[in-house]
Amino acid sequence: VRLIDQRRLPHRLEIVEARTVDELCELIVALAVRGAPALGAAGALGVALASATDEDLAGAAARLVATRPTAVNLAWGVQRALDADDPVAEALRVADEDVERNRRLGDHGASLLPADGNVLTHCNAGSLACVGWGTALGVIRSAVEAGRRLHVWVDETRPVLQGVRLTAWELEQLNIPYTVIPDVLAASLLASGEVDAVVVGADRIAANGDVANKVGTYGLAVVAARHRVPFHVAAPVSTVDPACPDGAAIAVERRDPAEVLELAGARLAPVGARAENRAFDITPGELITRYVTETGVWSSVAALLAGSGSA
Ligand code: MRU
Repeated sequence: VRLIDQRRLPHRLEIVEARTVDELCELIVALAVRGAPALGAAGALGVALASATDEDLAGAAARLVATRPTAVNLAWGVQRALDADDPVAEALRVADEDVERNRRLGDHGASLLPADGNVLTHCNAGSLACVGWGTALGVIRSAVEAGRRLHVWVDETRPVLQGVRLTAWELEQLNIPYTVIPDVLAASLLASGEVDAVVVGADRIAANGDVANKVGTYGLAVVAARHRVPFHVAAPVSTVDPACPDGAAIAVERRDPAEVLELAGARLAPVGARAENRAFDITPGELITRYVTETGVWSSVAALLAGSGSA
């Protein structure tokens, strides 16, 4: 399985290779590949790798799913490959479908953005987080393609800095105007009317509409609601987990405290300092203006599930 090594961006565009499921698991934990839809494809490809190397499929699937507990797409991709007669062909289908799905999602969501204005996004929900096009960034891309003149505020996204490293890199390639901000500036920009809409991705959407996404998303949603700025969540239907009743039932991944205590490998904190490193937070559904999926734009998850024909 060959992947863009997202740890090296934006300085180097390198491909990294996993020859065994354990190697792939290590790459997932280390965030060489990350973002919910990309994890779905990686999970499916992991099962394909296991089948091609005659590994025990159930054991490989369990190890893959355990790498990152919050993004439901990972388990979804693993299951799709497991359920197929030909896991390799199915994994490639999972990857191929992602791009087309995101284009449709982007086209649906584009109408939510202003003809001329400022959009804020958090973390990286672009091509890198998927197989192509992106979800939240896909909506922005589709809107720009449709002639909207947008400028993007890019949250740097502490502690792993997906915004400044990855979203900025993608927007640079796409020639879409953007400005990186420290996460802590977002509230002031929302208060001063300098943000017309917020668009973020999701790692899991519960049946009641609560959303798990990169830590910091909840705070943005609260401040956006306070200032009546629309707050949209863009994600494929595979991110909806109908079996999960609400946000409280979502497992929030806890990561190595070193990600908080260090910056690019250099220690920031005094010896002995402890850190809490929850990678995601939960945004209640009541703070979300619209859910954008490949099947349309929805005001609730109940409507989304009914409209998408999902169970
Ligand atoms: O820890 P990460 O980088 O995998 O977290 C990614 C996010 O939170 C994204 O917003 C989410 O997966 C949606 S990606 C289209």
